Amino acid sequence: MELLELMKTRRSIRKYQDRQISREDMETIIEAGTWAPNAGGGQRSIIVGVRNAELADRIGRLNVARFDRSMLSGSFVSTDQPSVIDDPTMKSGFYGAPAVCVVFAMKNFLYSIPDAFCCAENMVLMASELGISSCVVARGEETFDNEIGAALLREWNIPETYIARCFVLLGYCEGEYPRPKPRKAHRAIIVE
Ligand SMILES: Cc1cc2nc3c(=O)[nH]c(=O)nc-3n(C[C@H](O)[C@H](O)[C@H](O)COP(=O)(O)O)c2cc1C
Repeated sequence: MELLELMKTRRSIRKYQDRQISREDMETIIEAGTWAPNAGGGQRSIIVGVRNAELADRIGRLNVARFDRSMLSGSFVSTDQPSVIDDPTMKSGFYGAPAVCVVFAMKNFLYSIPDAFCCAENMVLMASELGISSCVVARGEETFDNEIGAALLREWNIPETYIARCFVLLGYCEGEYPRPKPRKAHRAIIVE
């Protein structure tokens, strides 16, 4: 698909089928993440792909366990694809996605967060090109800040100098594919 068209078509999906994505597709999506722009060319981010629906759900529950609603600047995301912001009764921040990629970045590095989200953006675009639905999810930091989370980081050999910054949910959209919101006007100028 032409790139701008792909960007316009990609939506954050929060209702997933049970169908798992292939290992090959996950590898391609992770590869796209590793080609993201990265501060100073340091290639510091680490991506862990979880292609296991049960484990993804367990991590998704940790993701909302300590969700602090007091910091939200609005309280409505989407009618088509309600989020944990819209519905506080949701038990998993991963919405039943059968696969998830965790993007880690160095704890004490100035561009740690932008590095991670640049990876995530490349990954969701790659997923769209492969016909796979996705959603970027935040709150990586608190998700693993508990005993179960710490055990997973040890199992995955994540260095202690690293922290989870965000997630890329992956799977196939359940139900109708959401409509795009029109773009707000007056958000850009070009100065010659
Ligand atoms: C930095 C960032 C954090 C996000 N965190 C979450 C999140 O925690 N949970 C969620 O459901 N969606 C999350 N999203 C997805 C946004 O809600 C979504 O991109 C936005 O509503 C626009 O919808 P669209 O992606 O379908 O165009 C996040 C997106 C970004 C860029």
